[in-house]
Amino acid sequence: MEYIDTHCHYCDEAFREDASQVIARAEEAGVKMMLQADVDSHERAGMYALCEAHRGVLCPMLGLYPGSVDENWRDEMDEMLRWRDRGAVAIGEIGLDYHYGAEYAAQQKEAFRLQLELAAQMSLPVNIHLRDATEDFFRVMEDCRHLGLRGNLHAFSGSVETFRRMERYGDWYVGIGGVVTFKKASLAETVRHIPLEKILLETDAPYLTPVPHRGERNDSSFIPLIAAKVAELKGIGIEEVAAVTSSNARSLFSLPE
Ligand code: NI
Repeated sequence: MEYIDTHCHYCDEAFREDASQVIARAEEAGVKMMLQADVDSHERAGMYALCEAHRGVLCPMLGLYPGSVDENWRDEMDEMLRWRDRGAVAIGEIGLDYHYGAEYAAQQKEAFRLQLELAAQMSLPVNIHLRDATEDFFRVMEDCRHLGLRGNLHAFSGSVETFRRMERYGDWYVGIGGVVTFKKASLAETVRHIPLEKILLETDAPYLTPVPHRGERNDSSFIPLIAAKVAELKGIGIEEVAAVTSSNARSLFSLPE
């Protein structure tokens, strides 16, 4: 069985000592490709170096994370654009996050919109980070409808209604991760109602570690635990979850077979 982890952070401080070993272990666990989310200029050079060292396995995205948008966001955007010819598989992770306050809401929206335009120019899918900003998010999506974008909502924790609302904008997927294994998560019920053909697996490593490893550092070798939970919820075999979600990821991100 083969899996693809569609969202991880191997340039996070948590992997400073052993990123390469962790990636190798994930490959042994059947996770043949991992998509590395870009955050901001602090990680970017290291990120492209790590992806180069794991060519064909760890694939970079390119984008400015909404949590990194502040008064210097235009400089951050310029820095990000310097890497546009380095073979990103998606523009991400980009979006809106008002969880820690909406102080930079206007800047976040502007950065988000510009990066959606960049994705359209580069014919790339987008990897969306959305937290506590649903209505503003859909306002931007509405303004950008003409761009014909496709992509996924990473770490999806919304409702079936949010998923259906997203489908109005074309070919969109949801990234399902460790949260689906949490006991109280309403996400488990939501996943039953989202077609497998619209689901991608992801860890968001080092965050959102699945049961029974909660409290530990997350990494891509835990993807089979997430797949097993999705299989259980849908009453199908884990082989089918692995095959369909991998094929979804290959088609959305134009990954090689
Ligand atoms: Ni992330």
